[in-house]
Amino acid sequence: MSRKRFLDKVIVIPGSTSGVGKASAIAFAKEGGRVIVSGRREEHGQKVVDEIKTFSGEATFVRADVSSHEDIKNLMDKTVEIYGRVDVAFNNFGKHDDGVALIADVKEEHFDAHMNISMKSVWLCMKYQIKTMLKQGKGDYAILNSSSISGVGGGWPFISVYSIAKSGVDSMSKSAAQEYAQNGIRVNSLGGGFFDTEMIHTYFEELAQFYGITKEQLDAEINKSIPLGRMATPQEVANTVLFLCSGEASYITGASIILDGGMSSKYL
Ligand SMILES: NC(=O)c1ccc[n+]([C@@H]2O[C@H](COP(=O)([O-])OP(=O)(O)OC[C@H]3O[C@@H](n4cnc5c(N)ncnc54)[C@H](OP(=O)(O)O)[C@@H]3O)[C@@H](O)[C@H]2O)c1
Repeated sequence: MSRKRFLDKVIVIPGSTSGVGKASAIAFAKEGGRVIVSGRREEHGQKVVDEIKTFSGEATFVRADVSSHEDIKNLMDKTVEIYGRVDVAFNNFGKHDDGVALIADVKEEHFDAHMNISMKSVWLCMKYQIKTMLKQGKGDYAILNSSSISGVGGGWPFISVYSIAKSGVDSMSKSAAQEYAQNGIRVNSLGGGFFDTEMIHTYFEELAQFYGITKEQLDAEINKSIPLGRMATPQEVANTVLFLCSGEASYITGASIILDGGMSSKYL
C-alpha cells in the first residue's frame, strides 16, 4: 500500500500481545503509525515490537494489566511521555476463560472478574484516553472498543457473563460517541463473531467440555454455523480495525460494527 493512513499518528492498543491486537499493532505500524503495544506478557509484547522494527516501524511496549486502575493511568501517561500524544485507541483486551456456565452456576468471582476486565476496564481506558484527547484540543480522534455479537445481538446462552460485559461495552461506546462527537472523537465498537486466536480456542475447549463433545466436533459445528464457513483470521479483523480508526471512516461514530462472516445476519 503506497498511501500511509496513520503517518505520525499515535495509536495505543491495550491487549496487543497476541491475536487481533497483535495483528492490528503490526498493521498500524505498516501504515506509518507510532504504536504502543500493551498487555501483561512482556515477552510476547516485546516480540510484537521486534517484528515491527524489522520493517523499520515505530513501536514501544508498555506493560499494563488492565485489571489495575493504576496500570491503565500509567499506560496513558507513558504513551504521552513516549510519543507526545494519542490519536487512536483500540481497547482490544477481553476475558473469555472461566465464563462457560449456566446462569445459576456462574461463580460470583467469575462474574466480577469478567465485569472488571471486559467492561469496567474499557470504561477506565476510555476515561484516560478521552481526557488526553480533550487536552490536545479538537481533533480527528478514534476510539474502538472490542465487543462481540454475543453482546450486540442479545444474550447468548452459557456465556452470559461475557455477553453482559460486551453489551456494556457497546452501550458505553454509544454514550461516549454522543458526548464527545463535538470534540472530534469518534467512538465505535467491533462486534466480533469468531476470530481464529488463542482466546477462541480456550473458549471452545471449555464449551466442548460443557457439551460433552470433542473440540474437533465443536469446531466443525461452529464452522457450519458461519455462512462464510470459517472463522476470521486476525489479519481480516485488523483490516476492519484500521478502516474504522482511519479518516476513511470519518462519518462513522456510535456504531456497533458486526464482523462475523454473516453469522448474525439471520437475526440482526
Ligand atoms: N476470538 C474471538 O473469536 C472473538 C470474538 C469476538 C470478540 N472477541 C474480542 O476480541 C478481543 C481480542 O481477542 P483475541 O481473540 O485477539 O484474543 P487473544 O489473542 O487472547 O488476545 C487477548 C489480548 O487481551 C490481553 N489481555 C487479556 N487480559 C488482560 C489484562 N488483564 N490486562 C491487559 N491485557 C489483557 C492479552 O494480553 P496479555 O495476556 O499479555 O495480558 C491479549 O493481548 C477481545 O476483547 C475478545 O473478547 C474475540
